[in-house]
Amino acid sequence: MAHMYVLVRPQLAETVRQSILGASVPISVSTDVREALARPYRSGDLLVVDDGLLADNGALVEQLARLACQKVLMGSVDDLAVARRALQLKSVEIVAPRDLAEMVPQLAAQFLAPDDAAPLPRRLWAMFSSKGGIGKTTLALNFAWAMAMQSAHRVALADFDGLGDVGAMLPRVPSTSLVDVVESLEAGLSTDAVMNSLYQVPEMGLTIVPADASPERSQRITAAQVSAVLDLLQAHHAYVVADMATGLSDVNLAILDRADEIWVITAPEKVTLLPLMRSLPILRTLYPEKLVIVVNRSDSETGLGTADIADMLGQPVSYALPSGGVGPVVAANQGRPLVMTEPSNALARAISNMAREQVTRFEGPRRNTPKLLGRGRGK
Ligand SMILES: Nc1ncnc2c1ncn2[C@@H]1O[C@H](COP(=O)(O)OP(=O)(O)OP(=O)(O)O)[C@@H](O)[C@H]1O
Ligand SMILES: [Mg+2]
Repeated sequence: MAHMYVLVRPQLAETVRQSILGASVPISVSTDVREALARPYRSGDLLVVDDGLLADNGALVEQLARLACQKVLMGSVDDLAVARRALQLKSVEIVAPRDLAEMVPQLAAQFLAPDDAAPLPRRLWAMFSSKGGIGKTTLALNFAWAMAMQSAHRVALADFDGLGDVGAMLPRVPSTSLVDVVESLEAGLSTDAVMNSLYQVPEMGLTIVPADASPERSQRITAAQVSAVLDLLQAHHAYVVADMATGLSDVNLAILDRADEIWVITAPEKVTLLPLMRSLPILRTLYPEKLVIVVNRSDSETGLGTADIADMLGQPVSYALPSGGVGPVVAANQGRPLVMTEPSNALARAISNMAREQVTRFEGPRRNTPKLLGRGRGK
């Protein structure tokens, strides 16, 4: 999927972000030169560079010129020095900052490579459990993160738990919540404008939609509204991970209806397995082909063995996740996913392997370097 990026001075970032809110293609705006240089561009991508970053920095112009993507210089069109830098940058166009928003459709049509002919994978994973505190959110966040690091495609993580805490596990809570998305869609904002308002983890191809800070607002969300949000996310991302509240509410059923796979997360204890055994007959009737059993903390010494759990549930255990010790809690307190803060942690490794398996399943063995560049930078 070709992508448009804008690299600007920090003082211009907000103005540029505002100006492209209604843009017809997804655009990522960043201010970090180091990240912009490290990004794994493809030839069909387009990078708009703010000339203000380049004045007196010939070395940077040369580095940017060597990037595999097409370049556009954003600067004064009638300034000779700017024109010279555009040549050095191998820029295909010079755009005045105030014209950028207006020029986006034209730049996209002219320079962004059309989408690859190969169809994109489309997959929605729903994280379900019939008891709370089992590890849905930990798995959802880390799996989505690991997918985004390893996949060539875009990934979205949405928190459909009204009391959800995905946002709290990030360095700062993204400003656009699920309720905001619902309200924007209902107010008739274009889908691209809504997309551009969503929080993107810099350089990861990962969109995160947290629950609203107000549980009262979240409670009013209906199943139909959840479907509309999933429509939007699935139209713009190859992979969507849905974190959910516990149980079989209408909202949850709307997610499960649409999911390609339902990861039924449980723990090796009777108190967790018994409520699941009560829900499983309904789930099996509704979604016979979608259920995938995931046992979290499967190595707990006091817990039941995987074979016993499979017997109790009448279905094999597809994934047995180990305990991550204090790792997940420490990572959550730091506002970073475990796969990023402690990749060697047993749980992080297991979740990264799950992601690798899914990426291989839908994209084949990776030929390119995974997007490890995003590691350590989820601001
Ligand atoms: N494999 C694991 N090893 C160690 N700690 C874990 C593991 N999985 C989850 N945790 C910890 O258990 C707690 C509950 O996990 P989490 O919030 O992911 O569960 P949840 O199912 O989303 O809960 P809720 O129903 O409240 O939304 C968190 O403190 C998390 O860090
Ligand atoms: Mg949760």
